[in-house]
Amino acid sequence: MGRQHWKGSVLMAPVPPALVTCGSSEKPNILTVAWTGIVCTHPPVTYISVRPSRYSYPILLERGEFVINLPTSAMAKTVDLCGMKTGAEVNKARVCGLTLIPSETVAAPSIEECPVSLECRVTETKALGSHTMFLAEVTAVSVDERFMDSKGKLNLQQAGLLAYAHGEYFALGRKCGDFGFSVRRRKKHST
Ligand SMILES: Cc1cc2nc3c(=O)[nH]c(=O)nc-3n(C[C@H](O)[C@H](O)[C@H](O)COP(=O)(O)O)c2cc1C
Repeated sequence: MGRQHWKGSVLMAPVPPALVTCGSSEKPNILTVAWTGIVCTHPPVTYISVRPSRYSYPILLERGEFVINLPTSAMAKTVDLCGMKTGAEVNKARVCGLTLIPSETVAAPSIEECPVSLECRVTETKALGSHTMFLAEVTAVSVDERFMDSKGKLNLQQAGLLAYAHGEYFALGRKCGDFGFSVRRRKKHST
């Protein structure tokens, strides 16, 4: 069996199907965004790519702020719904029973049910074609304390984060290594 060669497409997987909050606590909105990622560590820089036709688009442009909330696999239906319904017609937080809480550094609220929230301030917008990229600095991060261990380490494995791959949602599977484990020396065990 060989490999098939296709024309260029967006088959990148898995990606995080994030619940992005925008607007203010008085007039918030939520939309699902899978075109997101990290582009720089120091300073921490991320992006979201959004179609200009979205109700959220002018809100993002005007306010220049948003929050990327990472959902759990238990929230898959909510994630899908926030990507199917528009804030122009529906209060998605209310319909999905999500709790919006104040963020530390931006006016857009965070979602309490999500284990991790990245507060972002837009630094640049770039119209790319179907989508416009909002490049943004991560100004603060909040994490659910339930996933912190006694040493203050974040244990995201327990959070059960949701992944999106080629049009389907997946629960992240079992851990199969950690950063640097391929070259790490094993501790000698004395018996
Ligand atoms: C899994 C999934 C991923 C999505 N990713 C994006 C995306 O990256 N960019 C985008 O503009 N829309 C994306 N959408 C579509 C928007 O979430 C959808 O159009 C939503 O209704 C927009 O909400 P709004 O009209 O309240 O802004 C996605 C939808 C789903 C279900």
